[in-house]
Amino acid sequence: MKTLAALLLMTSAASAGMPGVPNEARAKINWQLGCQGCHLADATGSANGAPSMAGDVARFLSVEGGREYLTRVPGVTNAAVSSDQLAELLNWTLATFDSDHLPADFTPFTGEEMAAGRAHPLVGEAPTVRAALRKKFPAEKSAAGGGK
Ligand code: HEC
Repeated sequence: MKTLAALLLMTSAASAGMPGVPNEARAKINWQLGCQGCHLADATGSANGAPSMAGDVARFLSVEGGREYLTRVPGVTNAAVSSDQLAELLNWTLATFDSDHLPADFTPFTGEEMAAGRAHPLVGEAPTVRAALRKKFPAEKSAAGGGK
């Protein structure tokens, strides 16, 4: 019985999955189709200017304006998916590439929130907004192993 209980626990933990990601397989396909051309499969970025998000992207959630930035950045707003799937994709991106910085009380993005961001996309100002937000990031402990 003990084994069964442990098994059940494990199963429920696994099926709880990533917050705000109803379909991980679909999110991954959307990433492959629409995002990895610039950000690469492992989100380490590329020479054409897409920044690395690996071990880093969820840090935007820790500064004022960062959450909104994630809904308005052009790569996100231009994605050829519905706002509901875009929320799923962004939640998946955060959990997949930077679970370390995902706050314990993280509220997943919703389709409505993504639609609101899409209504006010950043255009030429994205790099400036990004740089200003990153200046506000709290210092990382070097022992944390992130820092990329
Ligand atoms: C045409 C290349 C390109 C594509 C395609 C693209 N991005 Fe980006 N992405 C960028 C660039 C460049 C930035 C940095 C901000 C800027 O200058 O627009 C960025 C920034 C981001 C950010 C903010 C994090 C940060 O470090 O600034 C997120 C989140 C993001 N992209 C997610 C996605 C997702 C999800 C997709 C797929 C739907 C995607 N991107 C598709 C180029 C791209």
